[in-house]
Amino acid sequence: MRRWAVRAAVLACGLVLAGCGSDDTTADLSVSAAYMPQPVSDSMAAGFMTITNEGGTKDELTSVTSDVAGSVTVHETAGGAMRETGSLDVPAHGRLVLASGGDHLMFEKLTRKPKQGEKVTVELHFAESGTVEVEMPVESATYTPMTGH
Ligand code: CU
Repeated sequence: MRRWAVRAAVLACGLVLAGCGSDDTTADLSVSAAYMPQPVSDSMAAGFMTITNEGGTKDELTSVTSDVAGSVTVHETAGGAMRETGSLDVPAHGRLVLASGGDHLMFEKLTRKPKQGEKVTVELHFAESGTVEVEMPVESATYTPMTGH
């Protein structure tokens, strides 16, 4: 009985590896849980999302653009203060989490003030994957996503 259980576990792992390792020489990105809390300021807004890389090569978020902002920068939070960071890694078989209190997108010089219920289009520029366009829903100013599963 015990031997069969082990054998089944090994088989399951093999299938998972075949599924995600089909092309390990590229980054394979997907974006989930993207949102912008409705900005309280007329000039600034934040954006959050999770970028998952199922590929075997790391990627790098190098810059971000959006038609709602004159400038979008990537910020990191360190020691309670935030500062602009040049680029952020999306590790191979890993993810980059942009979340409240951590790394995030900063929209400055807003061309309009996004309102709850709208969508904001953002172009993420990656070193490997090129440009990925994301529609970010605008949530309430106090929205916090569900964490965990
Ligand atoms: Cu910031």
